[in-house]
Amino acid sequence: MNRRQFATRSLAAMAGAVLHRHYGIADSSHSADQTPGSVPDSLIQKARFPEGFLWGTATASYQVEGAWNQDGKGESVWDRFTHTPGKVRGGVTGDVACDQYHRYPEDIALGKRLNQKSQRFSISWPRIQPAGTGIPNMKGLDHYSRFVDALLGAGIRPWCTMYHWDLPQALEDRGGWPNRDLANHFADYAGILAKHLGDRITVWAPFNMPWAIAFMGYAAGAFPPCRTSFSDFLKAAHTLALAQAEALRAVKAASSKATVGSAYEMAPAYPKTDTEDDRAAAARYHAMNNVFFLDAAMHGRYPKAFVGEPPYELMGFKADDEKLLHAPLDWVGFHYYTRRIVADASKERFLGAGNFSGTEIENNAPGGRDPYTRFRAAMPTEGPLTEAGLEVWPSGIYDLVTQISREYNHPIIEITESGCGYLDGPDEHGRIPDGRRIQWYREVLAELARAIADGARVRAFHAWTLLDNFQWAEGHTERYGLIYTDFRNQKRTIKDSGLWYSRVAASNRLDV
Ligand code: FCB
Repeated sequence: MNRRQFATRSLAAMAGAVLHRHYGIADSSHSADQTPGSVPDSLIQKARFPEGFLWGTATASYQVEGAWNQDGKGESVWDRFTHTPGKVRGGVTGDVACDQYHRYPEDIALGKRLNQKSQRFSISWPRIQPAGTGIPNMKGLDHYSRFVDALLGAGIRPWCTMYHWDLPQALEDRGGWPNRDLANHFADYAGILAKHLGDRITVWAPFNMPWAIAFMGYAAGAFPPCRTSFSDFLKAAHTLALAQAEALRAVKAASSKATVGSAYEMAPAYPKTDTEDDRAAAARYHAMNNVFFLDAAMHGRYPKAFVGEPPYELMGFKADDEKLLHAPLDWVGFHYYTRRIVADASKERFLGAGNFSGTEIENNAPGGRDPYTRFRAAMPTEGPLTEAGLEVWPSGIYDLVTQISREYNHPIIEITESGCGYLDGPDEHGRIPDGRRIQWYREVLAELARAIADGARVRAFHAWTLLDNFQWAEGHTERYGLIYTDFRNQKRTIKDSGLWYSRVAASNRLDV
């Protein structure tokens, strides 16, 4: 079976599956020659966002700040990783990145020009505690204090991710996230942030993509510290879930204005066929990759992500941990980039992990990705791919948002990241005509508007990202920004998509 047949068949098999596609308008409006997955123009024309909707962008400290060893900042695991030859495409590092540590007034002014009302940014833990514990480094805190003041001065809500992957290397040297002690160290750090910045920041999330921190770092070995042990992954995941809850309590104890939510990665999971087994596998994917940490916080227990009982012992789970995990979020934040098709692998003999491949580090070996979740998750290629290699599938955001709304009793939702990688650069007039990015956002946002119209309480959307930056192991080979960064001289140029997004933010509609 070729890829297209596979995709068509899996879609056909989706009728009656865990997730359905149901357009608000008749499906016949999709003509045969339309790009698979594309959204009809009529949906884009009629999309409206509510008054007061928070249009924003998201960034991450290591991807934009630079100044990697300035003002007393300690080494992070990403400094160590990028300084190791062969780890990052093109050998680039985040030593300078977008130099935002020095240029933030310019970047905040650009955000204001784009009519932004919310800026999701992250704080670098090793700027605050260079070795991960102990008294705070005031120079680091002062920097973020100025940064937050500048945002407020521009009428932009400061939205703080406490951890977007830059763990102090000293804590990795003490075992990293599989070491349960990190939950308390993280809570101390969170308390410091809330004590010093909680008079002005009211919107906090402990972790960006906790599943990826654990999986990419400790099971797949693609990100620092590059370990490949499934039991380290499970232990890291458990520490992160404990840390999430401890941080929520620490932040609320230090700041009465604090609200705490999340910035989870999520991808809607569709069963490959309509069999009971594939539907159960898709449900396990959803439990493991999407809501593992959300369930832990909301219910004090892990969802059914495993074929059997959760491997509590391997996770380092102790009696009464349920109570520690329980820390209900005030609102639920998650990212949307693309979707997954999931197949069962529990009936096959498991032939060992490793050998991960694909956009989300999947394992197509017999028996599935790992001995506990036993599924195969693939990103289909029915829709077109972005230049960063992710399938464009706009209705995925509708399915995901409505699913989370249903499953968690209609919480307030924030889209914490959503965006696409295209490499468009300046034309001969210095303009950046990135029409594909505009189209990507038009379609995804039309589907988000449809979810809102159907009752989902979404209050914010953060485009990933404000400006082209250091894209992790891909270096500078992927560009996600609404603003073009010339890394030779740090010149910023607003792309056509940025100009378009500013009009969307001003009008709450997409046909602008
Ligand atoms: C997300 C990360 C973000 C950025 C985008 C493209 O997974 O949170 O830092 O790299 O992908």
